[in-house]
Amino acid sequence: MTVRLGDVAPDFTAETTDGTLTFHDWLGDSWGILFSHPKDFTPVCTTELGAFAARKGDFDKRNTKIIGLSVDSLDSHAGWTGDILETQGTALNFPLIADENRTIANLYDMIHPNANDTLTVRSVFIIAPDKKVKLTLTYPASTGRNIDEVVRVLDSLQLTADYSVATPVNWVDGNDVIVVPGLSDDEATAKFPKGFKKLKPYLRITPQPNK
Ligand code: BEZ
Repeated sequence: MTVRLGDVAPDFTAETTDGTLTFHDWLGDSWGILFSHPKDFTPVCTTELGAFAARKGDFDKRNTKIIGLSVDSLDSHAGWTGDILETQGTALNFPLIADENRTIANLYDMIHPNANDTLTVRSVFIIAPDKKVKLTLTYPASTGRNIDEVVRVLDSLQLTADYSVATPVNWVDGNDVIVVPGLSDDEATAKFPKGFKKLKPYLRITPQPNK
């Protein structure tokens, strides 16, 4: 099944390193990030899990729960988490789904057979509190993800949700943002007390509203 932006994230019940959970209930009113790892005991995945664990505080601050998935068993995950602690210096502090029969990987189209017919690609799904998918990323097994980029896009999505703004190229937290085209100038004046610069009728820049 293809999961597209705006779709309700498919719900599922899964065995994880933190016990059995049902995804939507577990998310509650939080934002969520679901990301897949091709396989346990592989080098790139080991570095990624350590890095996600080290940055968990950044996700907590953003009211965002993170959850990983790998198509191996809970026993395998238990052995691997020891290696993650030993080599990356961070203990796993979020659930890792044991998707041995690939049910969830198939539900989220995380296996791309022309890349590899058994392992997942590196998928990232960011899900809003209404359970709708707001962002998808897909990396090949050989490229580790960039946690700064995951946090950056989460900040952008949360700003859009809260303030009717979009974020320009290479935007990072604290930079000016763009007034969405759907707002009239009068509405923008009322909404953005710091004002906005009108470079073109369709290109209006305002300081980041929550700074
Ligand atoms: C890795 O995590 O290092 C990896 C996994 C599958 C294929 C290639 C690399």
